[in-house]
Amino acid sequence: MAENGNTNAKISCQNISKTFIQKGSQKVHVLEDISLDVKENEFVVILGPGQCGKSTLLRIMAGLETATTGSVVINGKEVDGPGQDRGLVFQSYMLFAWKTVMGNVEMGPKLRGVGKEERRKVAQHYIDMVGLQGFENKYPHQLSGGMKQRAGIARAYANQPQVMLLDEPFGQLDAQTRIYMEQETVRIWEQEKRTVIFVTNNIDEALFLGDRIICMEGKLPGRIREVYNVNLPRPRKFTDLEFLKLRHEITEASELTL
Ligand SMILES: Nc1ncnc2c1ncn2[C@@H]1O[C@H](COP(=O)(O)OP(=O)(O)OP(=O)(O)O)[C@@H](O)[C@H]1O
Ligand SMILES: [Mg+2]
Repeated sequence: MAENGNTNAKISCQNISKTFIQKGSQKVHVLEDISLDVKENEFVVILGPGQCGKSTLLRIMAGLETATTGSVVINGKEVDGPGQDRGLVFQSYMLFAWKTVMGNVEMGPKLRGVGKEERRKVAQHYIDMVGLQGFENKYPHQLSGGMKQRAGIARAYANQPQVMLLDEPFGQLDAQTRIYMEQETVRIWEQEKRTVIFVTNNIDEALFLGDRIICMEGKLPGRIREVYNVNLPRPRKFTDLEFLKLRHEITEASELTL
């Protein structure tokens, strides 16, 4: 069977291209012929520099943007809009400022009509999972950046999606908090396996997290330049020789300025 279009894949992107039509009918060709199959519970990282189309690709998978050509199939069903089967975490925290941590996390289940007792239980489970126990009644402005991002992750999990789509979620954090959050991401993923697509421009983050790294071209239109399998045991170490070898290989082959 061809590598792409595999009907057993959890997520299958088939020949996706995207052209935005701007004011005055100016066209921006952002994605060209992206095909990608992702297995159930696989952790896939999309790595590329700024403005190479990463967010556009993720937004197409999320159903927030439509592809000009091609399609995304998740769980055998073609994506035609946003859905609860996909949890989204963005770079900016996107928390409701007027709601507490609990209010934010239980929002999804509440909108789906889940009763108060049950949704509190689910929300508490994910608040505990991301290590925010004790902060349930705090408002976003009372939290640090890392804590806000944890709340955003708990909120995405509270809908119990099968697929998690994360767009540079740790880009705003300081280096130390970022590494900590990357460790937490691995811990959470090992605890509650999900199919994950994680977008980043950071090669160390990609190598620390991914089962597979999809490297994008550095210029538009965005294409897949190379795919790397990362067969290293977790938790990974940034100083591990095999880690550094692969880092060297990817860096040499890419136009990423590091
Ligand atoms: N709605 C839109 N209309 C027109 N052009 C757009 C739109 N959304 C994105 N673009 C263009 O598509 C290109 C890729 O943007 P995208 O946000 O997908 O890149 P990215 O790889 O996520 O970048 P970054 O790393 O900076 O987040 C950019 O040139 C951007 O200006
Ligand atoms: Mg982006």
